[in-house]
Amino acid sequence: MRAVTWQGPKDIRVDQVPDPTIQEPTDVVIRVTSSGLCGSDLHLYEVLGPFMTPGDIVGHEPMGVVEAVGSAVSHLDVGDRVVIPFNVSCGHCFMCTHDLQSQCETTQNTEQGTGASLLGYSKLYGQVPGGQAEYLRVPHGDYGPIKVPNGPPDDRYLFLSDVLPTAWQAMDYANVPDGGTLVVLGAGPIGDMAARIGLHRGHRVIAVDLVPERLARVAARGAETIDISGMDTGDLGDRVRELTQGRGADSVIDAVGMEAHGSGGAKTLHKLVGLLPDAVAEPLMLKAGIDRLAALNSAFDVARRGGTVSISGVYGGATDPMPLFSMFDKQVTIKMGQANVRRWSDDILALLNQDEDVLGVESFATHHLSLDDAPEAYAKFQAKEDGMVKVVFRP
Ligand SMILES: NC(=O)c1ccc[n+]([C@@H]2O[C@H](COP(=O)([O-])OP(=O)(O)OC[C@H]3O[C@@H](n4cnc5c(N)ncnc54)[C@H](O)[C@@H]3O)[C@@H](O)[C@H]2O)c1
Ligand SMILES: [Zn+2]
Ligand SMILES: [Zn+2]
Repeated sequence: MRAVTWQGPKDIRVDQVPDPTIQEPTDVVIRVTSSGLCGSDLHLYEVLGPFMTPGDIVGHEPMGVVEAVGSAVSHLDVGDRVVIPFNVSCGHCFMCTHDLQSQCETTQNTEQGTGASLLGYSKLYGQVPGGQAEYLRVPHGDYGPIKVPNGPPDDRYLFLSDVLPTAWQAMDYANVPDGGTLVVLGAGPIGDMAARIGLHRGHRVIAVDLVPERLARVAARGAETIDISGMDTGDLGDRVRELTQGRGADSVIDAVGMEAHGSGGAKTLHKLVGLLPDAVAEPLMLKAGIDRLAALNSAFDVARRGGTVSISGVYGGATDPMPLFSMFDKQVTIKMGQANVRRWSDDILALLNQDEDVLGVESFATHHLSLDDAPEAYAKFQAKEDGMVKVVFRP
């Protein structure tokens, strides 16, 4: 089959690889019909390079049609239409039964000290072959796959794999009070969807980014926007306080993560880490501060005293200077983590199954491309060219 593989920093290729097969009784194999490209893939593209191995198949947002099921899989049949969560979780361990599927104890990576395995997400997360491919083996397919109805186009359901549950969890963690104001930092796919869900729930939403067409998308759905391009990110707090009676936002979602625009020093280190030999880069990456914290700092700045900061952007370093004084003094609540997809998927599916496309998922993707376009798509998505916000590959 054809699959998108990582070959080196900023070197993504489309390769011929062996077709996946059933290896465990709980496995499922699907034929992939749509597969998303995610901001999280951009971390692998460059910064998390030290944890990648040339040939790794990437992608963690697939859906498709069941081709084969293992002997222990009872809820699916060949031909069923399914969306695959990006977390690989078992459904029956302590963590899964406590709705913390992204911490699944059956697939946790204890050697790496990380949580549940993720599809196509480096050896930090189990080195599971990913879903930007024609076929995918789904480990723990007896639990993960979400069966969806036939009929509507793939994009109605595809974002159940990651974007929707991530944005939904971000909203839950943000704990916006009635009549409250939510600031969403980043208007990429995650921030955009979080803003849509916030608006759908009737909150006042202020979206912040530096890419005009991304802000235009959320503005069209009713969000207020702040464009930080050409602005000192240190001034963002004052702008938000001006809009909130001098107080700041009740809740803030960081949908940016470690590659934030706006602080120079870490950028050089980021590049450097990507170029070092793995043996040197890995400990540096995990133990030293390599994150660009501009967005996280903004989050604590724009939050009001007693407010909540919900972090979905991924951070990778360990000893970054954090604004601890301000965090403590302002008495903020912080919640964060990888999305627990199956925790939210039934609630979201109920919303998606309504006739009306309330979150605009069917027009959410800006680009539908062939797998062969992957190398160019990664480069353009990273550079935010061509109005590219969400790419869906159609293998
Ligand atoms: N927690 C989870 O389960 C989960 C799941 C999916 C994605 N993520 C993470 O969420 C983050 C966003 O993902 P995405 O797909 O939307 O990615 P993306 O890279 O397309 O979006 C990030 C956006 O942030 C903007 N930005 C950069 N610096 C900023 C700053 N200082 N202030 C405000 N905005 C800024 C960028 O212009 C961009 O539009 C990534 O870190 C990704 O890894 C987490
Ligand atoms: Zn994703
Ligand atoms: Zn589990």
